[in-house]
Amino acid sequence: NTEDVRAPASLETPLSVPNKMLMAAGPSNLTPRAAQAGGLPSLGPMHPETFRLMDEIKEGLQYAFQTKNPVTLCLSCAGHGGMEAALANILEPGDTAVMCKNSFWFDRASDMATRQGARVVPIDVKPGQPLTLEAAEEAVAKHRPRLLFVVHGESSTGVHQSLEGFGAMCHKYGTLLVVDAVASLGGTPLYTDRWELDVVYSGSQKVFNAPPGLSPITFSPRAMEHIQSRKTPCPVFYYDVLSIGDSWGCFGKRSYHHTLPVTLFYALREALALVAEEGLTASWRRHQLAAQRLHDGLERLGLRLLVEKPEHRLATVTAVLLPDNMDWATLLRTAMARHAVDLSAGLGPTFGRAFRVGLMGTNANPKAVDRVVNVLQDVIKNPIAAA
Ligand code: GLV
Repeated sequence: NTEDVRAPASLETPLSVPNKMLMAAGPSNLTPRAAQAGGLPSLGPMHPETFRLMDEIKEGLQYAFQTKNPVTLCLSCAGHGGMEAALANILEPGDTAVMCKNSFWFDRASDMATRQGARVVPIDVKPGQPLTLEAAEEAVAKHRPRLLFVVHGESSTGVHQSLEGFGAMCHKYGTLLVVDAVASLGGTPLYTDRWELDVVYSGSQKVFNAPPGLSPITFSPRAMEHIQSRKTPCPVFYYDVLSIGDSWGCFGKRSYHHTLPVTLFYALREALALVAEEGLTASWRRHQLAAQRLHDGLERLGLRLLVEKPEHRLATVTAVLLPDNMDWATLLRTAMARHAVDLSAGLGPTFGRAFRVGLMGTNANPKAVDRVVNVLQDVIKNPIAAA
């Protein structure tokens, strides 16, 4: 037999990956413990050791989400998949979804919900500000939607969305509350049960310092009751919690759903063990202190934060207005070329206006913060011009 396509010469060279300090909005640096765990031998999706691993991850996630929800698991996809799964499991064609519109994530979520046949009603909120409970209630009372969508850790603008009272308010009107906690889970307080959140999803690559590719998600009993009584099945088989929940043992048995990315599970299991060892409250406090140190350092450099009120600032991602006479590409290029420090450009409403710094997991420490501030001082003084 002959080959029509030749083996590529590019694969003859050894794999080479630089070590960068990942201080952008994500992913964050892997902890050595997560990285090593990811290199352990593979296991099959129906092996008893895999079931035990999944049970341990579930318990770690219940801790991180602060929930007793039995339907707590990990989807084999990025946080975007978590968003798509949350919406696809709750929405049916013709349903109304009310969504806070103050960020890039509104664009994504409303696109997904519209593709799923829902009618999206935006609540307009100025980027850089959170949604108030009053504005949310006005929209929910008026439209009686199937769901209200909010982003807890709004990474495109650096806003911390308070969730207290939102769940109880939604439930008064028969609405389910869907929360994006991709950039916040583990780094800032979140109480799924106490705050009556119905679906919450996150990502493995942010505060947990695990590899990208897993999306933790939890469904409240109220959300499950709705899902079990849908008129139409979830439109995406891969994301249908009624079937993937079976592979996670959520409904009392175990069945094959898809070939699970077990080596990613090892890494997440170890990441969750680190969270449990430190304790969530200690982690929340560490992120808060690191963010305060960063914000003070940025202000000393004469930089301004996009989010004006300190109480609305997210600990894990900070949006910083671009200094005069500096474009985002020059800033990011200089930080990377001279210091191997990764920062994010603006996204959605902050594109071209701000850059973003992430303090996630082990990167939320005083040494890392001081390094970023020193790097920014140098970048502002000596930017590298475009080639
Ligand atoms: C990704 O999550 C980002 O906020 O850039």
